[in-house]
Amino acid sequence: MKKNTLFILLLCLMQMTAAKAIKIVHGPYLQDVGETEATLVWLSDSTSIGWVELFPDDGSNAYLRTRPRYYDTTIGIKREGRIHSVTVKGLKPGTSYRYRVFAQQVLSHKGIRVHYGDIVATEAYNVALPKFTTLDTSKPETSFLVVNDIHQRNELLSKLLSMGKVKSRDIVFFNGDMLNIFDSEAKFFRSFMDTAVKEFATDIPLYYVRGNHETRGQWADRFHDYVCPRKPNIYYAFQQGPVYFICLDTGEDKPDTDWEYSGITDYDNYRTEQAEWLKGIVRSDEFKKARFRVVLGHIPPFDNQGPVWHGAQEVSDKFIPILNNSGIDLMICGHNHQYGYRDKMKGCDFPIIVNSNNGVLTANTHGDKLHVKVQEADGTVNLEKDY
Ligand SMILES: [Fe+2]
Repeated sequence: MKKNTLFILLLCLMQMTAAKAIKIVHGPYLQDVGETEATLVWLSDSTSIGWVELFPDDGSNAYLRTRPRYYDTTIGIKREGRIHSVTVKGLKPGTSYRYRVFAQQVLSHKGIRVHYGDIVATEAYNVALPKFTTLDTSKPETSFLVVNDIHQRNELLSKLLSMGKVKSRDIVFFNGDMLNIFDSEAKFFRSFMDTAVKEFATDIPLYYVRGNHETRGQWADRFHDYVCPRKPNIYYAFQQGPVYFICLDTGEDKPDTDWEYSGITDYDNYRTEQAEWLKGIVRSDEFKKARFRVVLGHIPPFDNQGPVWHGAQEVSDKFIPILNNSGIDLMICGHNHQYGYRDKMKGCDFPIIVNSNNGVLTANTHGDKLHVKVQEADGTVNLEKDY
């Protein structure tokens, strides 16, 4: 063997032994939990394939037997990347499942040869596995929690989640503006999402309603990689117990032509497209039959301070007329950074709550009542009311 070849071989060997072990760096967190399916999202620090193993909630040891695997695939191929998402299907409504997520490093992929490296997984040795419960439209009662306009304040997020007893809730909503600008993946996780994972999102379904600040920055068009990654849209509707939820994406607050958007936005057309989808939702049997109907959207159709901006006008013009006369019990918004309330404002036949940027909204059904409480971080109760 020539000296050169030996040297190169030695270098390769050194590199291989020095290679860092693959890590799971963010997540796992729940997305799009329904009655019969749930999506898990997690990120590794290097190119990998990923999968989920599902366990019944029967107290059995994680190492009792081989568990069913669900791979992160697209068009029949395991996806190579750092962001992994898997929708586990065929689940039973109102049923708890435990899970682990895995990533296996892909060292090289050339032609038909794939070389794999180490495997990493969420912990299963002597710890309780994360556990989620599927939704159940026949569940007699439900409760939920809403925060918004956190704007990268991890400590405040933790405090509001704790005040709202997050672990006792069926579901949690982020109603927009969780960050200031979406200019990197690190910003998304370090400024609020890692906190969400730590506090609840591995176990309690998180539904993310986009705010206008998530639409800004060079990473903004990747929002869908992290939120509802297996669904066609980031606006959606679903039911838990007696409450049917509609989650709207209200887009930006200024006209698309505003210089601040540098010509990169097209929200007027997006909201028009969404309005067509909304017409179908309010005509659906599921919507009509639900005991309660609650709408979430970041931008409200009014401004606490004065005349409305373009985004609010669009909500007024395109969404509110479709929702009127359809039996909406309540709309929950953010954006204004101070508490606001309108009980059937002009042109709108349902009440609207605007939660502040320091507040937590909690709600629970109780028979034919929907009990709602809106509280500031300092303890001030802005509203406590039955609908
Ligand atoms: Fe905000």
